[in-house]
Amino acid sequence: MDKLSKLKSHGAWVGRWTFILAATGSAVGLGNIWGFPYKAGTNGGGAFVLIYLLCILAIGIPIMISEIIIGRRSGNSPINAMRLVARDSNSSSGWQIVGWSGILAGILILSFYSVIAGICFNYIFIAASSTGSISSPDQFAEVISSPINLILWHTLFMILTALIVSAGVKNGIGRMVKILMPLLGFIMIFMVFYSVLNGDFNKAMKFLFEPDFSNVTSDTFLQAMGQAFFSLSLGMGSIMAYGAYMPKDQKVVNTSFTVASLDSLVAILAGLAIFPIIFAFNLEPNSGPGLVFVSMLSAFNQMEFGFVIGPLFFILLSIAALSSSISLLEPGVAFLAEEDILSRKRAAEILSFFIWILGLGSALSFNLWADFNLMPGRNFLDSMDFLANQILLPFGGMLIAIFVGWFMNKNLISDELGNANPLLIRIWRFFVKFIAPLSVALIFYNAIFG
Ligand code: PHE
Repeated sequence: MDKLSKLKSHGAWVGRWTFILAATGSAVGLGNIWGFPYKAGTNGGGAFVLIYLLCILAIGIPIMISEIIIGRRSGNSPINAMRLVARDSNSSSGWQIVGWSGILAGILILSFYSVIAGICFNYIFIAASSTGSISSPDQFAEVISSPINLILWHTLFMILTALIVSAGVKNGIGRMVKILMPLLGFIMIFMVFYSVLNGDFNKAMKFLFEPDFSNVTSDTFLQAMGQAFFSLSLGMGSIMAYGAYMPKDQKVVNTSFTVASLDSLVAILAGLAIFPIIFAFNLEPNSGPGLVFVSMLSAFNQMEFGFVIGPLFFILLSIAALSSSISLLEPGVAFLAEEDILSRKRAAEILSFFIWILGLGSALSFNLWADFNLMPGRNFLDSMDFLANQILLPFGGMLIAIFVGWFMNKNLISDELGNANPLLIRIWRFFVKFIAPLSVALIFYNAIFG
Protein backbone atom coordinates (compact mmCIF):
# COMPACT_ATOMS: atom_id res chain seq x y z
CA MET A 1 0.00 0.00 0.00
CA ASP A 2 1.37 3.41 -0.83
CA LYS A 3 1.83 6.12 1.70
CA LEU A 4 -0.83 8.23 0.01
CA SER A 5 -3.61 6.06 1.23
CA LYS A 6 -2.79 7.03 4.78
CA LEU A 7 -5.13 9.92 5.39
CA LYS A 8 -3.82 11.71 8.39
CA SER A 9 -1.35 10.80 11.06
CA HIS A 10 -2.51 10.54 14.65
CA GLY A 11 0.99 9.97 15.98
CA ALA A 12 2.48 6.68 17.10
CA TRP A 13 3.30 4.85 20.28
CA VAL A 14 6.71 5.66 21.61
CA GLY A 15 8.75 2.66 22.67
CA ARG A 16 8.31 -1.08 22.49
CA TRP A 17 6.12 -1.48 25.50
CA THR A 18 3.64 1.23 24.89
CA PHE A 19 1.40 -0.73 22.57
CA ILE A 20 1.30 -3.65 24.97
CA LEU A 21 0.53 -1.35 27.86
CA ALA A 22 -2.11 0.61 26.01
CA ALA A 23 -3.78 -2.52 24.63
CA THR A 24 -3.63 -4.15 28.05
CA GLY A 25 -4.97 -0.93 29.53
CA SER A 26 -7.84 -1.13 27.07
CA ALA A 27 -8.49 -4.79 27.75
CA VAL A 28 -8.17 -4.76 31.53
CA GLY A 29 -11.01 -2.79 32.99
CA LEU A 30 -14.42 -3.08 34.52
CA GLY A 31 -15.01 -6.08 32.30
CA ASN A 32 -12.45 -8.08 34.25
CA ILE A 33 -12.99 -6.89 37.79
CA TRP A 34 -16.64 -5.91 37.83
CA GLY A 35 -18.13 -7.88 34.90
CA PHE A 36 -16.34 -11.22 34.85
CA PRO A 37 -16.94 -12.23 38.49
CA TYR A 38 -20.58 -11.24 38.51
CA LYS A 39 -21.30 -12.85 35.14
CA ALA A 40 -19.55 -16.02 36.25
CA GLY A 41 -21.64 -15.77 39.42
CA THR A 42 -24.98 -15.45 37.67
CA ASN A 43 -24.08 -18.18 35.16
CA GLY A 44 -23.19 -20.89 37.63
CA GLY A 45 -19.40 -20.50 37.91
CA GLY A 46 -16.98 -23.12 36.54
CA ALA A 47 -18.72 -24.01 33.31
CA PHE A 48 -18.97 -20.34 32.38
CA VAL A 49 -15.30 -19.78 33.20
CA LEU A 50 -14.25 -22.72 31.04
CA ILE A 51 -16.35 -21.64 28.05
CA TYR A 52 -15.06 -18.10 28.48
CA LEU A 53 -11.43 -19.23 28.39
CA LEU A 54 -12.12 -21.36 25.32
CA CYS A 55 -13.64 -18.33 23.58
CA ILE A 56 -10.53 -16.27 24.43
CA LEU A 57 -8.27 -18.91 22.88
CA ALA A 58 -10.25 -20.01 19.86
CA ILE A 59 -11.97 -16.76 18.91
CA GLY A 60 -10.41 -13.89 20.84
CA ILE A 61 -6.70 -14.25 20.15
CA PRO A 62 -7.07 -15.00 16.42
CA ILE A 63 -9.31 -11.94 16.02
CA MET A 64 -6.99 -9.75 18.06
CA ILE A 65 -4.15 -10.61 15.70
CA SER A 66 -6.41 -9.80 12.75
CA GLU A 67 -7.44 -6.43 14.14
CA ILE A 68 -3.86 -5.38 14.77
CA ILE A 69 -2.82 -6.42 11.27
CA ILE A 70 -5.56 -4.36 9.63
CA GLY A 71 -4.95 -1.37 11.86
CA ARG A 72 -1.21 -1.28 11.45
CA ARG A 73 -1.38 -1.93 7.72
CA SER A 74 -3.42 1.18 7.10
CA GLY A 75 -2.41 3.47 9.95
CA ASN A 76 -5.94 4.84 10.00
CA SER A 77 -9.04 4.68 12.17
CA PRO A 78 -11.17 1.52 11.79
CA ILE A 79 -13.64 2.80 9.19
CA ASN A 80 -10.90 3.96 6.85
CA ALA A 81 -8.62 1.08 7.80
CA MET A 82 -11.23 -1.45 6.65
CA ARG A 83 -11.98 0.54 3.50
CA LEU A 84 -8.34 0.98 2.50
CA VAL A 85 -7.13 -2.50 3.30
CA ALA A 86 -10.16 -3.92 1.47
CA ARG A 87 -9.33 -1.73 -1.52
CA ASP A 88 -5.73 -2.90 -1.52
CA SER A 89 -7.00 -6.47 -1.41
CA ASN A 90 -9.35 -5.84 -4.36
CA SER A 91 -12.37 -6.26 -2.12
CA SER A 92 -15.49 -4.20 -1.68
CA SER A 93 -15.41 -0.92 0.19
CA GLY A 94 -18.51 -2.26 1.92
CA TRP A 95 -16.19 -3.81 4.51
CA GLN A 96 -16.11 -0.45 6.20
CA ILE A 97 -19.41 -1.47 7.78
CA VAL A 98 -17.21 -3.15 10.40
CA GLY A 99 -15.84 0.25 11.38
CA TRP A 100 -19.30 1.79 11.57
CA SER A 101 -20.75 -0.97 13.67
CA GLY A 102 -17.70 -0.63 15.91
CA ILE A 103 -18.31 3.05 16.48
CA LEU A 104 -21.93 2.34 17.33
CA ALA A 105 -20.85 -0.38 19.77
CA GLY A 106 -18.29 1.97 21.33
CA ILE A 107 -20.98 4.59 21.92
CA LEU A 108 -23.39 2.09 23.49
CA ILE A 109 -20.72 0.52 25.69
CA LEU A 110 -19.19 3.75 26.90
CA SER A 111 -22.62 5.10 27.86
CA PHE A 112 -23.13 2.45 30.56
CA TYR A 113 -19.44 1.86 31.25
CA SER A 114 -19.17 5.41 32.43
CA VAL A 115 -22.03 4.99 34.88
CA ILE A 116 -20.41 1.91 36.46
CA ALA A 117 -17.02 3.61 36.51
CA GLY A 118 -18.73 6.54 38.22
CA ILE A 119 -19.86 4.15 40.97
CA CYS A 120 -16.19 3.14 41.38
CA PHE A 121 -15.28 6.80 41.87
CA ASN A 122 -18.02 7.05 44.45
CA TYR A 123 -16.68 3.98 46.27
CA ILE A 124 -13.27 5.60 46.70
CA PHE A 125 -14.92 7.84 49.24
CA ILE A 126 -17.26 5.27 50.66
CA ALA A 127 -14.30 2.96 51.36
CA ALA A 128 -12.40 5.77 53.01
CA SER A 129 -15.15 6.55 55.45
CA SER A 130 -16.76 3.25 56.37
CA THR A 131 -14.93 0.92 58.69
CA GLY A 132 -15.79 -1.84 61.08
CA SER A 133 -19.01 -3.09 59.58
CA ILE A 134 -19.74 -5.75 57.02
CA SER A 135 -20.86 -4.03 53.88
CA SER A 136 -24.28 -5.26 52.96
CA PRO A 137 -26.11 -5.48 49.68
CA ASP A 138 -28.42 -2.86 51.17
CA GLN A 139 -25.64 -0.34 51.21
CA PHE A 140 -25.02 -0.82 47.51
CA ALA A 141 -28.74 -0.46 46.94
CA GLU A 142 -28.63 2.84 48.76
CA VAL A 143 -25.72 4.15 46.68
CA ILE A 144 -27.45 3.42 43.39
CA SER A 145 -30.85 4.65 44.52
CA SER A 146 -29.92 8.29 43.98
CA PRO A 147 -30.08 9.38 40.33
CA ILE A 148 -28.32 12.67 41.07
CA ASN A 149 -25.44 10.89 42.72
CA LEU A 150 -24.94 8.45 39.84
CA ILE A 151 -25.27 11.18 37.23
CA LEU A 152 -22.71 13.40 38.95
CA TRP A 153 -20.08 10.67 39.01
CA HIS A 154 -20.96 9.64 35.47
CA THR A 155 -20.43 13.24 34.37
CA LEU A 156 -17.03 13.40 36.02
CA PHE A 157 -15.93 10.18 34.39
CA MET A 158 -17.02 11.28 30.90
CA ILE A 159 -15.19 14.59 31.29
CA LEU A 160 -11.97 12.82 32.23
CA THR A 161 -12.31 10.40 29.32
CA ALA A 162 -12.86 13.25 26.86
CA LEU A 163 -9.90 15.20 28.24
CA ILE A 164 -7.46 12.33 27.83
CA VAL A 165 -8.63 11.47 24.32
CA SER A 166 -8.44 15.08 23.20
CA ALA A 167 -4.86 15.25 24.46
CA GLY A 168 -3.95 12.67 21.84
CA VAL A 169 -2.28 9.31 21.73
CA LYS A 170 1.22 10.06 22.85
CA ASN A 171 0.84 12.35 25.80
CA GLY A 172 -2.40 11.17 27.30
CA ILE A 173 -2.74 7.44 27.34
CA GLY A 174 0.75 6.13 26.82
CA ARG A 175 2.26 7.70 29.86
CA MET A 176 -0.48 6.95 32.31
CA VAL A 177 -0.78 3.22 31.79
CA LYS A 178 2.92 2.59 32.33
CA ILE A 179 2.83 3.20 36.04
CA LEU A 180 -0.71 2.43 36.95
CA MET A 181 -1.35 -0.93 35.40
CA PRO A 182 1.47 -2.66 37.32
CA LEU A 183 0.23 -1.06 40.52
CA LEU A 184 -3.23 -2.42 39.89
CA GLY A 185 -1.68 -5.85 39.43
CA PHE A 186 0.03 -5.66 42.82
CA ILE A 187 -3.11 -4.64 44.64
CA MET A 188 -5.06 -7.43 42.97
CA ILE A 189 -2.52 -9.99 44.14
CA PHE A 190 -2.60 -8.55 47.62
CA MET A 191 -6.41 -8.82 47.62
CA VAL A 192 -6.23 -12.42 46.50
CA PHE A 193 -3.89 -13.22 49.40
CA TYR A 194 -6.13 -11.46 51.84
CA SER A 195 -9.17 -13.19 50.50
CA VAL A 196 -7.51 -16.62 50.50
CA LEU A 197 -6.42 -16.22 54.11
CA ASN A 198 -9.65 -14.78 55.40
CA GLY A 199 -12.33 -16.15 53.16
CA ASP A 200 -13.70 -19.48 52.10
CA PHE A 201 -11.07 -20.32 49.50
CA ASN A 202 -12.09 -23.93 48.90
CA LYS A 203 -15.64 -23.06 48.13
CA ALA A 204 -14.49 -20.31 45.80
CA MET A 205 -12.12 -22.64 43.94
CA LYS A 206 -14.90 -25.16 43.53
CA PHE A 207 -17.26 -22.53 42.32
CA LEU A 208 -14.83 -21.06 39.78
CA PHE A 209 -13.09 -24.15 38.50
CA GLU A 210 -15.37 -27.12 38.94
CA PRO A 211 -17.55 -26.99 35.87
CA ASP A 212 -21.12 -28.10 36.29
CA PHE A 213 -22.58 -28.38 32.83
CA SER A 214 -26.08 -29.23 33.96
CA ASN A 215 -27.18 -25.62 33.82
CA VAL A 216 -25.34 -24.63 30.67
CA THR A 217 -27.69 -23.34 27.99
CA SER A 218 -27.17 -21.68 24.62
CA ASP A 219 -27.45 -18.43 26.53
CA THR A 220 -24.43 -19.34 28.68
CA PHE A 221 -22.39 -19.65 25.49
CA LEU A 222 -23.65 -16.35 24.17
CA GLN A 223 -22.82 -14.60 27.42
CA ALA A 224 -19.37 -16.15 27.74
CA MET A 225 -18.54 -15.25 24.15
CA GLY A 226 -19.82 -11.70 24.61
CA GLN A 227 -17.73 -11.39 27.74
CA ALA A 228 -14.63 -12.64 25.90
CA PHE A 229 -15.04 -10.02 23.15
CA PHE A 230 -15.79 -7.31 25.68
CA SER A 231 -12.90 -8.15 27.93
CA LEU A 232 -10.35 -8.24 25.13
CA SER A 233 -11.83 -5.04 23.63
CA LEU A 234 -12.46 -6.84 20.35
CA GLY A 235 -14.99 -6.54 17.57
CA MET A 236 -15.39 -2.78 17.67
CA GLY A 237 -12.12 -1.36 16.46
CA SER A 238 -10.43 -0.34 19.71
CA ILE A 239 -7.55 -2.71 19.17
CA MET A 240 -7.57 -1.93 15.45
CA ALA A 241 -7.26 1.78 16.22
CA TYR A 242 -4.43 1.14 18.67
CA GLY A 243 -2.77 -1.18 16.14
CA ALA A 244 -2.60 1.76 13.75
CA TYR A 245 -0.15 3.44 16.11
CA MET A 246 2.02 0.36 16.57
CA PRO A 247 5.60 0.46 15.31
CA LYS A 248 6.31 -1.79 12.32
CA ASP A 249 9.00 -3.82 14.01
CA GLN A 250 6.83 -5.04 16.85
CA LYS A 251 5.69 -8.67 16.73
CA VAL A 252 1.95 -8.97 16.35
CA VAL A 253 1.47 -12.59 17.39
CA ASN A 254 3.55 -12.50 20.57
CA THR A 255 2.05 -9.20 21.55
CA SER A 256 -1.48 -10.54 21.19
CA PHE A 257 -0.74 -13.53 23.39
CA THR A 258 0.77 -11.27 26.02
CA VAL A 259 -2.21 -8.94 26.09
CA ALA A 260 -4.76 -11.76 26.16
CA SER A 261 -2.91 -13.62 28.93
CA LEU A 262 -2.64 -10.56 31.12
CA ASP A 263 -6.31 -9.85 30.56
CA SER A 264 -7.45 -13.35 31.52
CA LEU A 265 -5.09 -13.38 34.47
CA VAL A 266 -6.65 -10.23 35.91
CA ALA A 267 -10.16 -11.63 35.43
CA ILE A 268 -9.28 -14.85 37.27
CA LEU A 269 -7.49 -12.92 40.02
CA ALA A 270 -10.57 -10.76 40.44
CA GLY A 271 -12.65 -13.90 40.84
CA LEU A 272 -10.21 -15.25 43.42
CA ALA A 273 -10.27 -11.98 45.32
CA ILE A 274 -14.03 -11.73 45.37
CA PHE A 275 -15.59 -15.17 45.78
CA PRO A 276 -13.81 -16.38 48.95
CA ILE A 277 -15.21 -13.32 50.70
CA ILE A 278 -18.65 -13.77 49.22
CA PHE A 279 -18.83 -17.33 50.53
CA ALA A 280 -17.29 -16.56 53.92
CA PHE A 281 -19.95 -13.94 54.55
CA ASN A 282 -22.76 -16.08 53.18
CA LEU A 283 -23.51 -13.57 50.47
CA GLU A 284 -25.02 -14.70 47.17
CA PRO A 285 -22.56 -15.27 44.30
CA ASN A 286 -25.31 -14.53 41.81
CA SER A 287 -26.30 -11.14 43.13
CA GLY A 288 -25.35 -9.31 39.92
CA PRO A 289 -23.68 -5.94 39.25
CA GLY A 290 -23.22 -5.07 42.94
CA LEU A 291 -20.98 -8.09 43.58
CA VAL A 292 -17.55 -6.45 43.52
CA PHE A 293 -18.70 -3.44 45.50
CA VAL A 294 -20.36 -5.43 48.26
CA SER A 295 -17.65 -8.06 48.65
CA MET A 296 -14.60 -5.84 48.42
CA LEU A 297 -16.03 -3.25 50.75
CA SER A 298 -16.80 -5.96 53.28
CA ALA A 299 -13.19 -7.05 53.17
CA PHE A 300 -11.85 -3.52 53.49
CA ASN A 301 -14.15 -2.74 56.37
CA GLN A 302 -12.75 -5.62 58.34
CA MET A 303 -9.08 -5.45 57.57
CA GLU A 304 -6.58 -3.31 59.33
CA PHE A 305 -5.81 -0.21 57.29
CA GLY A 306 -8.84 -1.00 55.15
CA PHE A 307 -9.57 2.70 55.09
CA VAL A 308 -6.35 3.17 53.11
CA ILE A 309 -6.25 0.01 51.02
CA GLY A 310 -9.95 0.27 50.16
CA PRO A 311 -9.78 3.69 48.56
CA LEU A 312 -6.56 2.70 46.82
CA PHE A 313 -8.28 -0.32 45.29
CA PHE A 314 -11.16 1.76 43.97
CA ILE A 315 -8.78 4.43 42.68
CA LEU A 316 -6.95 1.82 40.67
CA LEU A 317 -10.19 0.28 39.48
CA SER A 318 -11.27 3.72 38.29
CA ILE A 319 -7.97 4.12 36.47
CA ALA A 320 -8.34 0.72 34.85
CA ALA A 321 -11.78 1.89 33.73
CA LEU A 322 -10.32 5.10 32.31
CA SER A 323 -7.63 3.32 30.34
CA SER A 324 -10.45 1.28 28.77
CA SER A 325 -12.91 4.09 28.22
CA ILE A 326 -10.43 6.12 26.22
CA SER A 327 -10.08 3.20 23.84
CA LEU A 328 -13.86 3.09 23.47
CA LEU A 329 -13.92 6.73 22.42
CA GLU A 330 -10.77 6.71 20.27
CA PRO A 331 -12.07 5.02 17.07
CA GLY A 332 -14.89 7.54 16.61
CA VAL A 333 -12.76 10.53 17.47
CA ALA A 334 -9.89 9.41 15.26
CA PHE A 335 -12.33 9.01 12.36
CA LEU A 336 -13.85 12.48 12.72
CA ALA A 337 -10.38 14.00 13.02
CA GLU A 338 -8.89 12.15 10.10
CA GLU A 339 -11.76 13.09 7.80
CA ASP A 340 -11.26 16.71 8.88
CA ILE A 341 -14.87 16.86 9.96
CA LEU A 342 -13.87 18.19 13.38
CA SER A 343 -10.65 18.79 15.26
CA ARG A 344 -9.61 15.98 17.62
CA LYS A 345 -10.56 18.10 20.60
CA ARG A 346 -13.97 19.08 19.24
CA ALA A 347 -14.67 15.52 18.16
CA ALA A 348 -13.87 14.22 21.64
CA GLU A 349 -16.13 16.82 23.23
CA ILE A 350 -19.12 16.35 20.98
CA LEU A 351 -19.03 12.58 20.91
CA SER A 352 -18.61 12.47 24.69
CA PHE A 353 -21.54 14.76 25.20
CA PHE A 354 -23.72 12.52 23.09
CA ILE A 355 -22.56 9.46 25.01
CA TRP A 356 -23.14 11.26 28.30
CA ILE A 357 -26.79 11.84 27.38
CA LEU A 358 -27.25 8.20 26.46
CA GLY A 359 -25.63 7.25 29.76
CA LEU A 360 -28.38 9.04 31.68
CA GLY A 361 -30.67 6.18 30.73
CA SER A 362 -28.31 3.70 32.34
CA ALA A 363 -27.96 5.80 35.49
CA LEU A 364 -31.74 5.94 35.77
CA SER A 365 -32.12 2.22 35.19
CA PHE A 366 -30.80 1.69 38.73
CA ASN A 367 -33.56 3.78 40.27
CA LEU A 368 -36.33 5.80 38.59
CA TRP A 369 -36.42 3.60 35.50
CA ALA A 370 -35.81 0.33 37.32
CA ASP A 371 -39.10 -1.07 36.06
CA PHE A 372 -38.81 0.25 32.55
CA ASN A 373 -37.73 -2.38 30.05
CA LEU A 374 -36.23 -1.19 26.79
CA MET A 375 -36.09 -4.77 25.53
CA PRO A 376 -38.15 -7.66 26.92
CA GLY A 377 -36.79 -8.51 30.37
CA ARG A 378 -33.96 -5.97 30.10
CA ASN A 379 -33.79 -2.51 31.60
CA PHE A 380 -31.97 0.33 29.84
CA LEU A 381 -28.47 -0.57 31.00
CA ASP A 382 -28.96 -4.28 30.39
CA SER A 383 -30.23 -3.53 26.89
CA MET A 384 -27.14 -1.46 26.01
CA ASP A 385 -24.94 -4.16 27.46
CA PHE A 386 -26.76 -6.92 25.57
CA LEU A 387 -26.87 -5.12 22.22
CA ALA A 388 -23.22 -4.18 22.30
CA ASN A 389 -21.55 -7.15 23.95
CA GLN A 390 -23.62 -10.02 22.76
CA ILE A 391 -24.60 -8.79 19.30
CA LEU A 392 -22.41 -6.03 17.87
CA LEU A 393 -19.00 -7.15 19.16
CA PRO A 394 -19.28 -10.81 18.10
CA PHE A 395 -20.82 -9.70 14.79
CA GLY A 396 -17.97 -7.24 14.13
CA GLY A 397 -15.41 -9.80 15.20
CA MET A 398 -16.87 -12.43 12.90
CA LEU A 399 -16.69 -10.07 9.92
CA ILE A 400 -13.09 -9.17 10.77
CA ALA A 401 -12.14 -12.85 10.87
CA ILE A 402 -13.92 -13.54 7.58
CA PHE A 403 -12.23 -10.55 5.97
CA VAL A 404 -8.72 -11.45 7.07
CA GLY A 405 -9.24 -15.18 6.55
CA TRP A 406 -10.81 -15.06 3.12
CA PHE A 407 -10.46 -11.65 1.51
CA MET A 408 -7.38 -9.80 2.67
CA ASN A 409 -4.39 -9.91 0.32
CA LYS A 410 -1.99 -12.58 1.55
CA ASN A 411 1.11 -10.51 0.86
CA LEU A 412 -0.18 -7.75 3.06
CA ILE A 413 -0.76 -10.27 5.83
CA SER A 414 2.69 -11.85 5.61
CA ASP A 415 4.17 -8.40 5.54
CA GLU A 416 2.56 -7.60 8.86
CA LEU A 417 3.30 -10.91 10.49
CA GLY A 418 6.95 -10.67 9.51
CA ASN A 419 8.98 -13.67 10.50
CA ALA A 420 6.62 -15.11 13.06
CA ASN A 421 6.85 -18.86 13.55
CA PRO A 422 5.40 -20.46 10.35
CA LEU A 423 3.56 -23.16 12.26
CA LEU A 424 1.97 -20.58 14.50
CA ILE A 425 0.89 -18.63 11.43
CA ARG A 426 -0.65 -21.75 9.90
CA ILE A 427 -2.60 -22.46 13.06
CA TRP A 428 -3.72 -18.87 13.27
CA ARG A 429 -4.89 -18.92 9.62
CA PHE A 430 -6.96 -22.02 10.27
CA PHE A 431 -8.58 -20.37 13.27
CA VAL A 432 -9.45 -17.07 11.52
CA LYS A 433 -10.70 -18.85 8.43
CA PHE A 434 -12.85 -21.50 10.06
CA ILE A 435 -12.94 -21.83 13.82
CA ALA A 436 -13.54 -18.22 14.87
CA PRO A 437 -16.29 -17.29 12.36
CA LEU A 438 -18.00 -20.66 12.65
CA SER A 439 -18.00 -20.57 16.43
CA VAL A 440 -19.55 -17.12 16.48
CA ALA A 441 -22.12 -18.15 13.88
CA LEU A 442 -22.97 -21.32 15.79
CA ILE A 443 -23.37 -19.52 19.09
CA PHE A 444 -25.61 -16.93 17.42
CA TYR A 445 -27.64 -19.63 15.72
CA ASN A 446 -28.16 -21.54 18.94
CA ALA A 447 -29.08 -18.45 20.89
CA ILE A 448 -31.71 -17.55 18.32
CA PHE A 449 -33.12 -20.94 17.40
CA GLY A 450 -31.77 -23.19 20.15
N1 PHE B 1 -12.10 -4.40 27.68
C1 PHE B 1 -12.70 -3.40 28.51
C2 PHE B 1 -13.00 -4.01 29.88
O1 PHE B 1 -12.89 -5.18 30.08
C3 PHE B 1 -13.94 -2.81 27.91
C4 PHE B 1 -13.82 -2.49 26.47
C5 PHE B 1 -14.63 -3.12 25.55
C6 PHE B 1 -12.90 -1.54 26.03
C7 PHE B 1 -14.52 -2.85 24.20
C8 PHE B 1 -12.78 -1.25 24.68
C9 PHE B 1 -13.58 -1.92 23.77
O2 PHE B 1 -13.41 -3.33 30.77
